[in-house]
Amino acid sequence: MNTISSLLESFYEETTPKRGLPAAAYKDAKFWEAECASVFTRNWVCVGFAHELQAAGDAVPVTLAGHPLLLVRNMTGEIRAFHNICRHRCLTLVDAPKNVGKLIRCPYHAWAYDLDGKLRAAPHFGGVNEHQAEGFDASQNSLVPVRSHVWNDWVFVNLDGSAPDFDAYSASMQARLEGIDWDKVDCIGTLDFGEIACNWKFIMENFIEPYHVQFVHASTTDQPLADHYTIVDGNCLGSAVDLDEEIGTSGSLGVSSRYLTLYPNFILGRYFPDQMGVYLNIPTGPGTMVQKRALYTTEGQTLTPDAIEGLKKLWWDVHKEDHEMTERLQLGRSSTVSEAGGVLSPAWEDSVRAFQELVAQDVTTLEKH
Ligand code: FES
Ligand SMILES: [Fe+2]
Repeated sequence: MNTISSLLESFYEETTPKRGLPAAAYKDAKFWEAECASVFTRNWVCVGFAHELQAAGDAVPVTLAGHPLLLVRNMTGEIRAFHNICRHRCLTLVDAPKNVGKLIRCPYHAWAYDLDGKLRAAPHFGGVNEHQAEGFDASQNSLVPVRSHVWNDWVFVNLDGSAPDFDAYSASMQARLEGIDWDKVDCIGTLDFGEIACNWKFIMENFIEPYHVQFVHASTTDQPLADHYTIVDGNCLGSAVDLDEEIGTSGSLGVSSRYLTLYPNFILGRYFPDQMGVYLNIPTGPGTMVQKRALYTTEGQTLTPDAIEGLKKLWWDVHKEDHEMTERLQLGRSSTVSEAGGVLSPAWEDSVRAFQELVAQDVTTLEKH
């Protein structure tokens, strides 16, 4: 039986130029399980938008690495994260975004938890009108919390609780976002792309490298390759483009930009002078993921409905162009030709290689434990 380390042999071969991850990393159940147990467990993973939880009682379920989770805004306005699992018979509690009121009520036997996860009612558990039972301690049957952190509009979780403090974890990315007045940042719309038929890493890698932009987005962007450079800075990977002359974001994208990712799944695009986009990427299996994108203005400016629609259309088209490529990358992994991965451009895909090394490191350290 192949171990994860043996799957990665071709990846670690001393070749010039370097190779990408082998096909197995994008399709094998075993590799996916290793990622679930390491990449998505020990790091800070983005799982939601705070703006989707506006009011107390708003609840959004999300499944991360096979773990059903629940994000809830509590009575004091904080967003909490829990395992979305009833402590009675372990039913998943909330199956669609909704406002639950003051209590999260299990549909099966009506156990009810407050918005801080405390078990408030276990009706008739000890018999008719007997809500207590011998040896049963309600305080030991609260919802199980998950370590979480809200950074601006983005909700992160760290399943095993072992990641460094979020600010330390995200320092390399935050250092590249200097000058943003976060009080002025406003979400002006979201795009829901639903399921994409590719491994989550293809979406990350596609964002991290600038090489494809001029070819794939020939009609939607105006950012010459020569003006791009890659960013490799710890767990912040991506690229940037500096243009002397800003062409604008109406119709096609021709502005100085920062394409930043925070390992493993957070993507933030900053488009000078006043726009930002964040992608919510939730892997759902070795060959599937779901994606949403939120659009933000960063200078408190007011856009007309037409301008917002224009931006949404532009970004919808850009994403669709990318998805077509990432789904074809996935299809390419069914061929024996892709077994040892492709080759990576030393000029434009060193950032992709750095991302892949973080994945490879996470999945193999798991094996050594
Ligand atoms: S499983 Fe939730 S109340 Fe029984
Ligand atoms: Fe792209």
